Amino acid sequence: MPYSTTFANDLLCGRTALITGGGSGIGLGIARAMVSVGASVVLVGRREEVVTAAAAELNGIISSLPSTTEAKAVGLAADVRKPATLEKVMASIEDDEQLPPLAVVVNGAAGNFLALAEDLSPNGFATVMGIDALGTFNVCSAALPLLRKGAEALGSPAVVINISATLHKPATWYQSHASAAKAAIDSLTRSLALEWGALGVRVVGIAPGPIAHTPGFAKLGGAAEGVYDAIAKVVPAGRIGQVTDIGHAALFLASGGAEWITGATLVVDGGAVLYSQPI
Ligand code: HXC
Repeated sequence: MPYSTTFANDLLCGRTALITGGGSGIGLGIARAMVSVGASVVLVGRREEVVTAAAAELNGIISSLPSTTEAKAVGLAADVRKPATLEKVMASIEDDEQLPPLAVVVNGAAGNFLALAEDLSPNGFATVMGIDALGTFNVCSAALPLLRKGAEALGSPAVVINISATLHKPATWYQSHASAAKAAIDSLTRSLALEWGALGVRVVGIAPGPIAHTPGFAKLGGAAEGVYDAIAKVVPAGRIGQVTDIGHAALFLASGGAEWITGATLVVDGGAVLYSQPI
């Protein structure tokens, strides 16, 4: 379903969205959704060639939109574990006169692998916590001054959308590190919402379930033959998720329609975490 038939096609016109992990998977899916409704987008990722190629794809979407728009997409290389690289990102957003005010930050950068806790080194655990949990804090912290300015310029709250997961809601084999990191992100969403509401910043989360055709899910074994069908049988909504499902959720949460939502993490998983056998 095209985004512009579900949401107004100028929903995010005159706004810039910064998306970490925006070069692929869920992050890129959210970026496609946002440019489709008028946003300018800054993609951040570790590999310059990946974010540059993704930005070129988004500029193609922008130029195909029916309305004339001043929007644009830019790819910038930075590591969410390195605050100095994030300061450079914020400086280049501020210096770019073609970019409208920063109104949305999506924390999509994540690292993961399958490992039993007994096989996981302290550095393996710390690496995933560092990318996911510390990385989310680092980006929020670096972006806050621009988000405050953006909220003031636009006269409506800026929004941070933290991408977590459902791994930690029950417990997930081989995922002690990622589950701890995603639980920390959900907690940070609540704490920052509490403290930053008065600063004009809403902080919300999306906890995606299994999403097809993403490098992240493939890395966890999701690309093996028959997995999507097996998931469809145990998901109440009857199918695996698509990146567009997360894109739709992000558009709602970024919109004025969600203005009274802060601190909440929306589970977008077709009901997968609810699954149990009938007794
Ligand atoms: C055990 C492992 C391991 C593995 C790495 N480590 N892979 N331990 N099993 N398969 C350990 C290493 O041995 C090392 O510890 C430590 O982790 C750091 O490894 P490096 O390779 O030096 O780290 P780095 O180069 O920074 O790479 C980080 C990474 C990498 C997470 C390991 O895979 C990465 O950059 N990933 C980014 C992309 C990604 O994974 N995306 C997936 C997101 S999916 P020692 O002790 O040896 O030094 C996602 C979805 C969740 O989040 C929800 C799904 C439903």
